[in-house]
Amino acid sequence: MTTTQRPKDRIEGYPRGWFVIGFSNEYGPGEMKSMTYFGQRLVCFRGEDGQIHVLDAWCPHLGMDLGKGKVIGNTIECPFHAWRFDGEGRCVEIPYCDSVPKRAAEGSWTQKWTVQETNGMIHVWFDPEGGPPEFELPELGEWGSDEWTDWHHSIVHIRTHSREIVENVVDIGHFAPVHGTIVEEFSNEFIDHMAIQYNKGVAYPRGGGKDYFTLKATYYGPGFQISEMSGFLESRLVNAHTMVDENSLDLRFGVMLKQTHDKAKDEAFARQYVENLTVGFQEDIQVWENKLYRDVPLLCGSDGPIMRLRKWYKQFYTPRESVAAGA
Ligand code: FES
Ligand SMILES: [Fe+2]
Repeated sequence: MTTTQRPKDRIEGYPRGWFVIGFSNEYGPGEMKSMTYFGQRLVCFRGEDGQIHVLDAWCPHLGMDLGKGKVIGNTIECPFHAWRFDGEGRCVEIPYCDSVPKRAAEGSWTQKWTVQETNGMIHVWFDPEGGPPEFELPELGEWGSDEWTDWHHSIVHIRTHSREIVENVVDIGHFAPVHGTIVEEFSNEFIDHMAIQYNKGVAYPRGGGKDYFTLKATYYGPGFQISEMSGFLESRLVNAHTMVDENSLDLRFGVMLKQTHDKAKDEAFARQYVENLTVGFQEDIQVWENKLYRDVPLLCGSDGPIMRLRKWYKQFYTPRESVAAGA
């Protein structure tokens, strides 16, 4: 029997690392959202004190999605029977019962996720084995500075595995055919949890013209990349992909621009930039959604260090493998 279905990817499981689940400017005080990542339901909320919390979303009582409820003060209220939970996942009140069951009061049924809000993004630490964070996120001096805009960002859902996206870091051969970009200088470096691309070339934006750019793009772990780019304008880009299940992910991307004297123009330009980024990612998505993963690819002498990148990426998988830099 023939089938038009792509064979199931042979990459299984989830990598370990920090993953973006939203931008700070999506959550005002008292706002929340539930979402599915790593095959689990999570709820993210900002209390009135400004703190961000991430909990398992399924209510320990009868299983309602807590993200459909509301934030009250620094707690969330389940819409089904109005149990209330604090940011630690502890039930603090049941409106129709004088005492809260011990396990609900302790929060042992509701996992609290390790969350860090930094550089205008909300990251959770995910480890399939439940271990603590193993590396730190970078601090971007540009974020929050008057000299730079806030993030302008977008999100797209893609049917692929995170590993396919990471391989772009070393894939020098795809720039011309997929993006119409001419690469003049290209190199990579792998340092512990970081994989870096140095890239210099000429891009031809879809709107016309030529953009001579210099780029340093750094992955911090398996799903979060910051690029420092100089070209027509100075910019910082983020590319963050978080797996929804084993065969799909949400890719968040955004740009921060160095401010000029004309704020309105900067804002308009940033919006245009995000549209251009969207076009660039659409070009990649056409590839990612229409390929399979080759464990043993047939490479040529001018391909980038794809196997080295894969070795680097493997360190984020279970069982842990120590991958010495440069090994
Ligand atoms: S299901 Fe949440 S309070 Fe009952
Ligand atoms: Fe690409």
